Amino acid sequence: MNPGIYNSVLITGSNRGIGLELVRQLAESVTSPSQIFAGCRDPGGPRSKALQDLAQKHSNLITVIPLDTTDPVSIKEASQVVGRKLSGGSLSLLINNAGMNIPGNLQQTGMKEMVDVYTTNVVGPMLVAKEFLPYMQRASALPGSQMPVIINVSSIMSSIEKCHERFSKSPAYAYRTSKAALNMLTRCMAEELKKDGILVTALHPGLVKTDMGGPQAHLTVVESVSGMLRVISSLTSEHSGTLLDWEGKGIPW
Ligand SMILES: NC(=O)c1ccc[n+]([C@@H]2O[C@H](COP(=O)([O-])OP(=O)(O)OC[C@H]3O[C@@H](n4cnc5c(N)ncnc54)[C@H](OP(=O)(O)O)[C@@H]3O)[C@@H](O)[C@H]2O)c1
Repeated sequence: MNPGIYNSVLITGSNRGIGLELVRQLAESVTSPSQIFAGCRDPGGPRSKALQDLAQKHSNLITVIPLDTTDPVSIKEASQVVGRKLSGGSLSLLINNAGMNIPGNLQQTGMKEMVDVYTTNVVGPMLVAKEFLPYMQRASALPGSQMPVIINVSSIMSSIEKCHERFSKSPAYAYRTSKAALNMLTRCMAEELKKDGILVTALHPGLVKTDMGGPQAHLTVVESVSGMLRVISSLTSEHSGTLLDWEGKGIPW
């Protein structure tokens, strides 16, 4: 892959799991972007130690920014920090990676679970994309530039067609419905942002060994993220508004 085609990148939820590995692989690529903004909600806390160590190692490249994707004030402040660092430059890749799962069947899932998961997995990505859009529009205006990309990290569990395959193992009402809504958000934004030359694609990272995926998951974060970055670097306008997996295969809605 050639991640260097993206001159500046913002990743949400980047202090652990898939987000942290995205930052690492982008920073350690031979053609790394010129700026990586690593958003996380508690940059000074113990759960951000690995990200802070990585940022120290690549201090000219990685800026860790406080970003709680469910807090409009935090999103606005993060955007101001990024705007100052870009100083008139543009953002060419936004990865809406932050997400949460509260597992549960019908009896175990109530209003709080539904609202909390929806807020994190759908409202957050929408607010972040909206706030950072002006920087991405600048990227699309640059002559001869790669089309800017918004990636919404979705899940195979969003697929209505495939629901029956693993439902009994993992009903996860709140998570499944939120990721299905994230797919629709992806499709709506893909339609609206076509005029700006911005691609919007939903990506399933595979079943990955992280805090969320658990130790039984098939893939390591390294495998998942290298696949995801390969897919991202090969996206064209025909992939905008679709749901792909970490190997670039389409997943039915
Ligand atoms: N692992 C899998 O098998 C799998 C499969 C399909 C899809 N996915 C998707 O992949 C993405 C990453 O998952 P993961 O496996 O890396 O999960 P993870 O290990 O649980 O990490 C989740 C990340 O999201 C962050 N986050 C949650 N809510 C946030 C908020 N309001 N603001 C900012 N950051 C927030 C967490 O930050 P804190 O440390 O502050 O909590 C953490 O950095 C998610 O969207 C998930 O749904 C994962």
